[in-house]
Amino acid sequence: MNLIAPSLLAANFANLEREMEWFNQSEADWLHLDVMDGVFVPNISFGFPVLEHVARMTEKPLDVHLMIVEPQKFISQVRDLGAAIMNVHQEACLHLHRTVQQIHEAGMKASVTLNPSTPISTLEDIIQDLDVVMLMTVNPGFGAQKFIEHSLDKVRRLREMITRTGAHALIEVDGGVNRTTAPLLAKAGVDVYVAGSALYGKPDPVAEVKALKSLIEAC
Ligand code: DX5
Ligand code: ZN
Repeated sequence: MNLIAPSLLAANFANLEREMEWFNQSEADWLHLDVMDGVFVPNISFGFPVLEHVARMTEKPLDVHLMIVEPQKFISQVRDLGAAIMNVHQEACLHLHRTVQQIHEAGMKASVTLNPSTPISTLEDIIQDLDVVMLMTVNPGFGAQKFIEHSLDKVRRLREMITRTGAHALIEVDGGVNRTTAPLLAKAGVDVYVAGSALYGKPDPVAEVKALKSLIEAC
């Protein structure tokens, strides 16, 4: 699969209407929403009051990436937004299996994210239950950081694990995705590409989405 998920973190928040307009017109597939608490990551982004408005501005699936401690406390609030995918960090969940079950019971797809230093082997006993595995390809907390090259090998090993176990999880990557890194990631086996600074703030973000998609599809 070749899906593009623009990350709203890179948007101009003083003009969300315009940002959502190009997003809706573009070939982008999911809207990636980064929630930060200043504890799990050294930054704070936006919370439910903003998400509620944004959710009403699109029909496309919402991919909610929670960079917060105890994300299980917010399952029903994320469900009430109408989110399609709830994304929790492996490092933030003491009882990951229970959290994944509860996300499914709430009617959402369960996505688990790994920080750059967390091995994919930590998912060996839950991979079959996951709809998405997201690999952080930068350290979480900020946009516009440099892509961590080691991630390419990690994507390949995750692809092997999914094939070996017969799991159905999509592979998503988040951080430093651009016209240079996307083709490398495509060859390594990625399905979903989060992109922030490569799209927002560009003169023609709709054309940027299109260009990124064609590059990926050509691989
Ligand atoms: C980082 C966020 C990312 C971020 C990506 O913690 O999870 O979604 O917006 O930004 P870029 O694409 O600029 O690296
Ligand atoms: Zn993210």
